[in-house]
Amino acid sequence: MRIDVVSIFPEYLAALDLSLIGKARQDGLLDLNVHDLRDFTTDRHRTVDDTPYGGGAGMVMKAEPWAQALASVADAGTDGGTANDGGTSDGGTRPVLIVPSPAGAVFTQAMAYELAEEKHLVFACGRYEGIDERVLEWAGERFDVRPVSLGDYVLNGGEVAVLAMVEAIGRLVPGVVGNPESLVEESHSDGLLEYPVYTKPSSWRERDVPEILLSGNHGKIAQWRREQQLQRTAARRPDLLDKFDASQLTKADKAALTALGYEVTKDRILPRG
Ligand code: ADE
Repeated sequence: MRIDVVSIFPEYLAALDLSLIGKARQDGLLDLNVHDLRDFTTDRHRTVDDTPYGGGAGMVMKAEPWAQALASVADAGTDGGTANDGGTSDGGTRPVLIVPSPAGAVFTQAMAYELAEEKHLVFACGRYEGIDERVLEWAGERFDVRPVSLGDYVLNGGEVAVLAMVEAIGRLVPGVVGNPESLVEESHSDGLLEYPVYTKPSSWRERDVPEILLSGNHGKIAQWRREQQLQRTAARRPDLLDKFDASQLTKADKAALTALGYEVTKDRILPRG
């Protein structure tokens, strides 16, 4: 997969040299390129922002440096990388342009899986009050443009969001995580939060590891872990249970949910009372 990131703070993205993503870059699984937006300006001051039309606080990022930067990376991913059709409207030949913004659709694990199938992702890190809206309209001719938010809070710019998204997407690219099994059982992979985990020693500061995990009974352990997932999700993220496909529930799951105060109908999990 090819990834291009355009930012006025390219140094911010240095963390992508580390750990699993850094290793994936070294191994050639991720072809990640960071570009300085100011390299696409033409004036002496390398200006990237100006005052907003209509007034108001802050500055807006100018259209032309963005157009130059995006045009220069648009065709970069057309050869090499892991090919697929990416699910884009024209069969996947267009790169996906992700514009981090608190005004975007919220980033989810499902979105990460979908984007991990793409051949070429471009991230446009906005700063200040955002990028001149015409850039996104113009970019729609060459990219599949997606404004994406990390969550309902405001960051100073897109860089931190890009670090999070590249990590979440990159680790789903085949070969990046050494043991793909670990992707199956983690939080959000099946719509529930992950079960609690423990390691040695079995007794620590008078706290014992749950007995069942020492039993060697794999069937019972799997059942306990599933109950823990349901219990945790009900306590911490009841909104996920609301979205969960109830037809996936086993008899044991339904019994656990009933004990947790939920009513399970044919296709919904509803809090009782
Ligand atoms: N830029 C500023 N706030 C953001 C957010 N919540 N998500 C993504 N990009 C952002």
